[in-house]
Amino acid sequence: MSQKESNEFGQNNSDYIQKFQNIVLQINFSTSTNPSTLETLTEELFSECFQSLFPNYNKTCPKCCVSKLQASPIPPTDEDLWIFGYGSLVWKADFPYIDRKQGYIEGYQRRFFQHSIDHRGTPEKPGRVVTLIPSSDPEAKVYGVAYRIAKEQKNEVLAHLDYREKNGYERNTLNFTEFDSGNSIDVVMYIATNQNDSFAGGSEDNLEPIAEQIYETTGPSGQNREYLYFLADAMRELFPGVVDEHLFKLEELVKQYERRDQILVDVIKSKICNIFNSSNADEAVDKFKCLLDDCSQKSYLTELYNNIKCDR
Ligand code: BEZ
Repeated sequence: MSQKESNEFGQNNSDYIQKFQNIVLQINFSTSTNPSTLETLTEELFSECFQSLFPNYNKTCPKCCVSKLQASPIPPTDEDLWIFGYGSLVWKADFPYIDRKQGYIEGYQRRFFQHSIDHRGTPEKPGRVVTLIPSSDPEAKVYGVAYRIAKEQKNEVLAHLDYREKNGYERNTLNFTEFDSGNSIDVVMYIATNQNDSFAGGSEDNLEPIAEQIYETTGPSGQNREYLYFLADAMRELFPGVVDEHLFKLEELVKQYERRDQILVDVIKSKICNIFNSSNADEAVDKFKCLLDDCSQKSYLTELYNNIKCDR
């Protein structure tokens, strides 16, 4: 490839060679370089020239924290409204409430079958969020959290949620069973049916395409994978021992994509370190060009990962 051409990723290798030459000037190849300097240079070169190969790589994986019930000055009445959350409301309610109960609704399955273009994705690159799909399985349950909204606040809270969930969700009223007591109450919840424009659906048996979409997507509310991880963490915390196969399988698949990128990032960094250990600047430049050429081909990273997997 000529130095002026863009590679398969649309990058111009000649810019990278220039950057490398600037970095190499900081090394005296005749003496052994201090390991901490090597580490800094490796990080610098990686972020300048190779980071863009891993657009979804992000080391930080925040921990979910289920929000705590705040003491409320408003006493409960029979006219209060209960709202059931089975998505982000499970770990965080962004409206005032006076009580909260853990439990489930029956006759539905929670699925990442709805596109998110305004929270965990964008219109150009939609993310995936949950909706409820009717189930014929008599055992089907969806676990979540019901929030009690004081009658004085219910119009304001419903208006807030109607706006928040405007991308395809509709209000429904269903029966909710409290986990500890087995008591039932009517709850309002938002469901996006397969009739809405953002319904994406998906296969029950092959969750890979949904996992890949979640791994690659970010929206105004944050990374799509964070939504998945928070929901899975919150379910384990609130309902230990309850297995949501669809949710936990997706979590496992997305974590596999994260691990793949982490492994590849580590391998590229060790190759860079090896370049800095060359015996002279010319050898280092040659090795760098080779690595750049390899990484210019999209298939290289896939093959590299497959070989690493085979060796393990
Ligand atoms: C939730 O539980 O967070 C939720 C799910 C779908 C629509 C609205 C809220």
